[in-house]
Amino acid sequence: SQNEKSVENRLIELCGLLKNTVDHYDWVGFYFKNGNKNELKLGPYAGEPTDHTIIPFGKGICGQVAVSNENFVVPDVAAQDNYIACSITVKAEIVVPLFVNGKNIGQIDIDSNTPDPFTEEDERFLEFVNEKVAQIL
Ligand code: SME
Repeated sequence: SQNEKSVENRLIELCGLLKNTVDHYDWVGFYFKNGNKNELKLGPYAGEPTDHTIIPFGKGICGQVAVSNENFVVPDVAAQDNYIACSITVKAEIVVPLFVNGKNIGQIDIDSNTPDPFTEEDERFLEFVNEKVAQIL
């Protein structure tokens, strides 16, 4: 629909803004729970295209957040065994769940080429971003 399209465009713009504004954000994207399937589907993003457009619940950092409902900060992706590599340049990752009416419906996922760059400030900021996004969904 018209409204769906404008939401998608606004989220693409948001991803680009975050990627271009914050030095340590090198790939920024949203994954959403895919209907009633136990999987995530890639939504709007900014950065290199990824092969991982579908991620089963429990798999990778993203899949784990789909079931834990908690932020996941990874200072060093090489130290994670349940991790899905999208690019060899990525050193760290943060995933923050997106809640609508208290329900985890997806997440914002950010990759960084800088080792250990994410702080609690990123967590609070991305929680705030997701609250704003929830209001337009
Ligand atoms: N690294 C993620 C997969 C998504 S890519 O970062 C875009 C993970 O382990 O779930």
